[in-house]
Amino acid sequence: MVTAGGTREPIDPVRYLGNRSSGKMGHAIAVAAADRGAQVRLITTVTAPDDERIATVKVDTAAEMNTAVRAALPGAMLLVMAAAVADYRVAEVAAKKMKKRDALTLDLVPTVDILRSLAGDPLGESVLVVGFAAETDNIEENAVRKLAEKRLDLVVLNDVSRADIGLGSHDNEVRVFDSGGLVAHLEKRAKPLVASALLDLIEKRLS
Ligand code: CTP
Repeated sequence: MVTAGGTREPIDPVRYLGNRSSGKMGHAIAVAAADRGAQVRLITTVTAPDDERIATVKVDTAAEMNTAVRAALPGAMLLVMAAAVADYRVAEVAAKKMKKRDALTLDLVPTVDILRSLAGDPLGESVLVVGFAAETDNIEENAVRKLAEKRLDLVVLNDVSRADIGLGSHDNEVRVFDSGGLVAHLEKRAKPLVASALLDLIEKRLS
């Protein structure tokens, strides 16, 4: 199972809180896994690759992604959370389009942390869990902290302060960590190639 794209948390019927994730990395992982013969379920917020080998579930919000992930976990062997899940949602979504005013304050509350909620849950314990860490500062320290806090098997560190890699870009360059430290540095290249190299690492763990 692969998640991809940035979640969109509604403010009113026409507006949402979102992020710059394009879904390209997650989609590349889904396609690369299908190329290896895996049965793939892709849970994505953006238009999915036109690939009949991939079972796609389209979602918008973190809550919807959480429901879709939990529904698909039984029987799965691998979860790759490449999605950029919003950390906050609006406390109360307006039923009607909000009218322009001089100033606006939105009351935000945390969304569900999908990976963290799976740590210690039998649903999550039964699969290999790979998380992504989108970081701009103290990047290694933050990624390793996420690995531990979310009890991940692997964390893929993405330096999103660089314009040439990461959110929305064509290429990526990542470092992969497990609880023992650095596992691999995947040099900058097109996202499908990074996806394939990442799956090489993952396949070794699964076998
Ligand atoms: N994630 C998640 N649920 C959330 C937020 C993030 O499952 N509500 C997952 C992401 O899909 C990713 C990992 O957790 O695999 C790390 O996401 P990231 O946005 O880098 O970190 P956060 O946990 O949101 O922490 P921070 O925003 O403080 O960096």
